[in-house]
Amino acid sequence: MKIIVIGSGYVGLVTGACLSETGIDVCCVDTDAAKIAFLGQGKVPIYEPGLQEIVERNIRTGRLHFTTDVSACIGGADVVFIAVGTPPDQDGSADTHSVIEVARTIGRTITGYTVVAVKSTVPVGTTQQVGTEIRKELHKRNASIEFDVVSNPEFLKEGRAVSDFMTPDRVVVGAESTRAERTMELLYKPFMMTRNRMLFTDIATAEMIKYAANAMLATRISFMNEMANLCERVGADIDNVRRGIGADPRIGAKFLYAGCGYGGSCFPKDVRALIATADRFGYPMPLLRAVDRINEAQKEIPFRKLKDHFDGHLENRTIAVWGLSFKPDTDDIREAPALVVIERLLKAGCRVKAYDPAATETVRKKLGDKILLADDMYAAAEGADSLVVMTEWRQFRHPDWLRLLGVMRHPVLIDGRNIYDRGMLIRIGFAYYRIG
Ligand SMILES: NC(=O)c1ccc[n+]([C@@H]2O[C@H](COP(=O)([O-])OP(=O)(O)OC[C@H]3O[C@@H](n4cnc5c(N)ncnc54)[C@H](O)[C@@H]3O)[C@@H](O)[C@H]2O)c1
Repeated sequence: MKIIVIGSGYVGLVTGACLSETGIDVCCVDTDAAKIAFLGQGKVPIYEPGLQEIVERNIRTGRLHFTTDVSACIGGADVVFIAVGTPPDQDGSADTHSVIEVARTIGRTITGYTVVAVKSTVPVGTTQQVGTEIRKELHKRNASIEFDVVSNPEFLKEGRAVSDFMTPDRVVVGAESTRAERTMELLYKPFMMTRNRMLFTDIATAEMIKYAANAMLATRISFMNEMANLCERVGADIDNVRRGIGADPRIGAKFLYAGCGYGGSCFPKDVRALIATADRFGYPMPLLRAVDRINEAQKEIPFRKLKDHFDGHLENRTIAVWGLSFKPDTDDIREAPALVVIERLLKAGCRVKAYDPAATETVRKKLGDKILLADDMYAAAEGADSLVVMTEWRQFRHPDWLRLLGVMRHPVLIDGRNIYDRGMLIRIGFAYYRIG
């Protein structure tokens, strides 16, 4: 088989690299020439465990290629994936212009029957629109080439993207033709050897499944954050509440952690995009609006706790921040709660010293010299009036507390992810604050 993946970011690159592992020929396309040149040398521009090795191996064997020119590689392709970004528009709806642009390119360049699989997260109706745009371009070319569009949303988690792709919980394919379904089934067969987890639906349902999945996960987080905020007021412990409710199999233990809000390139934008879709259909979507509102407020809590601790006076304080990526094991800082807190701290006149195991460079590109980026977690804490932990990287779990007490100016700890032992920290001399 021959596969083209258009858009070589987190999703496109992982898709292309993992498919090439199964022995097929894959060409990854992107408009970002620098990214393509970098990838062509076997270098992976994102932090994603296991990905570098797969990319290197498949370039070496000649199965994985990179180009900026779709027309150079599209001939003979069985499946063309669209995996470009769908960032939020000003009104919160998903901006699908890149997806549509790619659809037109496909219409201008395909040479024979092709399955066009939309992997980008797109609102209901977009995959059909992709079909319409391809048809229009074929018409302009006077070409009678057959093609099918399918919706094949991606559920990988950053930080575990390779293993999620290799052993997926499910592969959803929304299709209208048996030929397209069989092609997708064949493509994913190597990942279904132990159990068939393919789910075939109509196109609109497949598009909706992706949004509903992210909306559900975001809802669980905002629910737990709301419970945590109430626990704090009534003197209950959210961590034990979590264990108590998570033991019920109808609820389940996963995704029940209170903290300083969700971020990333998916949950915030997908929740808002789903609300925007509902708006278009005149449905008010009250639950998801609350989920989004709670999350926005939650990101402010570490800053508020810090301000309260210092009686409202934060000017000229030095604050250390551990964890900048929106979650551990990624360098992705899109909508990261840490950035919200840093912005508030800078506005309040603080000096910020930060450390992250992977996201330093992405933050440097965004914030320049507005904050000091330390090479080491203890260096970030040196002379700090407080330490705020925003991302639960594994290396932050058991720090050398006595060393921290030695280097910090004031032992004030804001635990934005509830990862530390309150009793122990208070005993050794920290002023300790957590969520709930
Ligand atoms: N990141 C995730 O964890 C994740 C998970 C599931 C689904 N998704 C969805 O997948 C899609 C891609 O997300 P991502 O995180 O990989 O985005 P990304 O920003 O990392 O990558 C998108 C890539 O597309 C390229 N691109 C943009 N326009 C192009 C065009 N016209 N032709 C060729 N390339 C073009 C960009 O240069 C970029 O490299 C989004 O819709 C996102 O919602 C993301």
